[in-house]
Amino acid sequence: MFEAAKIDTSDKSAFYNELATQLEALLHGERNMIANAANTSALIYQMLPDLNWAGFYLMQGETELVLGPFQGKPACVRIPVGRGVCGSAVERNATILVEDVHAFPGHIACDAASRSELVVPVRHAGKVVGVIDLDSPIPARFDADDQQGIEALAAIFAAASDL
Ligand code: SME
Repeated sequence: MFEAAKIDTSDKSAFYNELATQLEALLHGERNMIANAANTSALIYQMLPDLNWAGFYLMQGETELVLGPFQGKPACVRIPVGRGVCGSAVERNATILVEDVHAFPGHIACDAASRSELVVPVRHAGKVVGVIDLDSPIPARFDADDQQGIEALAAIFAAASDL
């Protein structure tokens, strides 16, 4: 049984280093992408304070994201590339950190409680194969440390899974 150990969140870079170690242990020995995405979402949702949604959208073909494993309220299923924060992150091939979702043109509201959002591309063999999407009810919940930390988790997930 995997026990997520409580981590001190006062030092964010130490927190994310420890979370990365926990994710590597959690995914070790399993390459199924859906199982690993499910456990990655669960670990993030359990360990990061002040989230109301954490999960994956996965590329289907070249033009569309489809909802993957997640924690939180039921969410919109399909997001065209270029739409919303998730589709824009794919189009730009870059992380998008949104301090105020109401100020992001085209933001797709899945949970009315969401105030800020962090979307990190998941890459395999140089291509974006999906995104990790985190939502928070707190404005400006995410900063550059969160971005760096979640990008590291996305890389661990991608390396550990058959994509
Ligand atoms: N807000 C996202 C949609 C996904 S939900 O937040 C889970 C977006 O604008 O792409």
